[in-house]
Amino acid sequence: MIRPTQKKRLGLAIIGAGRVGLFRGGVAARHPMVDWIGIAEIKPDRGKQVGEAIGADYVTTDYKELLARPEVNAVIVATDEHLHVGPIMEAVARGLPLLIEKPLATDLNESIRVMHAIEKSGVDAVVGYTQRFRRRWLAAKEKVRTGALGDVTMVTSRAFMNRLVAIDNYRRTDKPETISPMVISGTHALDIVMWMMEDKRPVEVYARSVDKVLGPEWKGIDATAGLITFEDGSIYHLNISWALPVTWPGAVYSLEVGINGTDGVLTIDDTHRDIVLAVSQPTSEGYAPDKQRLVDFLGSYPPGDMALGELRGPMREETVSWLDRISLGVPTQAATAAEAHDRLMLTKALDLSAKLKRPIHLPLAVEDALRAA
Ligand SMILES: NC(=O)c1ccc[n+]([C@@H]2O[C@H](COP(=O)([O-])OP(=O)(O)OC[C@H]3O[C@@H](n4cnc5c(N)ncnc54)[C@H](O)[C@@H]3O)[C@@H](O)[C@H]2O)c1
Repeated sequence: MIRPTQKKRLGLAIIGAGRVGLFRGGVAARHPMVDWIGIAEIKPDRGKQVGEAIGADYVTTDYKELLARPEVNAVIVATDEHLHVGPIMEAVARGLPLLIEKPLATDLNESIRVMHAIEKSGVDAVVGYTQRFRRRWLAAKEKVRTGALGDVTMVTSRAFMNRLVAIDNYRRTDKPETISPMVISGTHALDIVMWMMEDKRPVEVYARSVDKVLGPEWKGIDATAGLITFEDGSIYHLNISWALPVTWPGAVYSLEVGINGTDGVLTIDDTHRDIVLAVSQPTSEGYAPDKQRLVDFLGSYPPGDMALGELRGPMREETVSWLDRISLGVPTQAATAAEAHDRLMLTKALDLSAKLKRPIHLPLAVEDALRAA
């Protein structure tokens, strides 16, 4: 056990008050070290609504104005995936510790720029790979870390999602080529597995994609299957489809992982088939409620579930853990900016391999990514 090394009172800036900004703000509002919360949200109505819901002290539409406030000494960046960079760079310039939603950026060049700026400034910046805070993945991590499986030789992950998240993402961007199932959603499973294999160096990726559902209307990708090879010969076989019919009961993520080692194997069923809700009328909660979805795998929304007025689940644990980290100085298992950049680089390399239909050597260079684009 590590004892707190400091007691710093917090003035928290939340940039982006969408679903995640509201969840994290609600948790932060109850944290004993948080004295002040400010919100920056470009949609004034949404900012007002979330500000009232969490009892924020300050609400604005301008994140630069918020970050200039004297109370602010910690920042959450919860804007849309492709809109993280501006707020991160402003917070870094002010030397403020950060919790950034994944991915670090959606463009490889930007991701490198952000990572270097964070490293050069020395600010404590972590990235929201929320699944690291779920007990099942922590139990798996502990078994792998302490050698229960021997040397890990082959890992598989299968991620299935209905197409609501994909359509939502493609609808919000005018650059569909920067959005892919791997970059936006596959990154969660990839991070969990790469975290398990953190002592191994990936050297090559090979992948294929299909685009029969999301290609024609959204210029999007339905699914990608790939193979990552490590320096020592071990392999990670991964796939993700985010184009399942809207009627698929998973709200977001249904995941299965198998970890094979020389002395053991660990299988994790994270499909959420253990709690199934079926109703005659659509319920108001869930990811972009859709009238066609009358059956739900409860627990398949990665941040967690609302119960008795509060978020219950990994995003709550992750947020509390981050607030403890910056107020009390305790270490946490949150992903670093360098790890987040590595995940973006790997997902971009998988997408590039699928596009060029050939293996890609790692690490993927920005020039190769640009040339292919
Ligand atoms: N870790 C997880 O489990 C998890 C789960 C869901 C989403 N996410 C990530 O969280 C982020 C936000 O996702 P979401 O589901 O909350 O999206 P959302 O669309 O509900 O919220 C994003 C909000 O940011 C606002 N915004 C955009 N640019 C802004 C700016 N410059 N200044 C102020 N506000 C701005 C938008 O108006 C919107 O309200 C994404 O990066 C997403 O990938 C993580």
